[in-house]
Amino acid sequence: MAITTCIFDAYGTLFDVNAAARDAAAAPGNEVLAKVWPGLAADWRNKQLQYTWLRAVTGEHVDFWQVTQDGLDWAMEAAGLADARLRADLLALYRELPAYAEVPAMLAALKAAGMTTGILSNGSPDMLSAAVKSAGIKGYLDAVLSVEDVGIFKPARVVYDMVGARFGCAPGEVLFVSSNGWDVAAATGYGFRTVWVNRAGQPMDRLAHRPEQVLDDLRGIPDLAGGL
Ligand code: LAC
Repeated sequence: MAITTCIFDAYGTLFDVNAAARDAAAAPGNEVLAKVWPGLAADWRNKQLQYTWLRAVTGEHVDFWQVTQDGLDWAMEAAGLADARLRADLLALYRELPAYAEVPAMLAALKAAGMTTGILSNGSPDMLSAAVKSAGIKGYLDAVLSVEDVGIFKPARVVYDMVGARFGCAPGEVLFVSSNGWDVAAATGYGFRTVWVNRAGQPMDRLAHRPEQVLDDLRGIPDLAGGL
């Protein structure tokens, strides 16, 4: 079955989640971050994701903006940083994360090839809308789907159901692309064709399913989607 629809995870896949801490560290007045920002960024991301899974398992959903703030608060305390201005700066930067450099051309190539394109993300609609706008990629996306419509985070299957519900396509026509190994594993189990974007050269997650394809970045997606 040929691919008709390319669906992307947002945070870490299209948008560089480390950019907020990296850019804040480079700003005048934030010298305190210079040494600690890589650890802070990693703790922030790890806690943010852990909180999504734990809230899904316990049925205590809050939106992704809340878990993003909760993860940052944990990471700042772990780094010994108690600074309300810095917290506000980091959160403001998170709302306008840059897309990875290859993203606009990659999406443009998919649209030129007649593919349907979309985002399927834990992000809340307002966060996604701000990030898509600031990255200048709105015109290349047919839909931006947020888990807020189903009230539970990935990797709950009901989240992946949103793609077929929106586009009327079969799972086998969907190429699902994520930098999160656990997201790709669940999407493969769901029946999507999958690509894991492994920018950081991480080991593969030991979960029930493996990605169908692994790429270092997003540049190869249009050729891959057209050839499957
Ligand atoms: C997302 C998170 C998982 O965008 O990165 O859904």
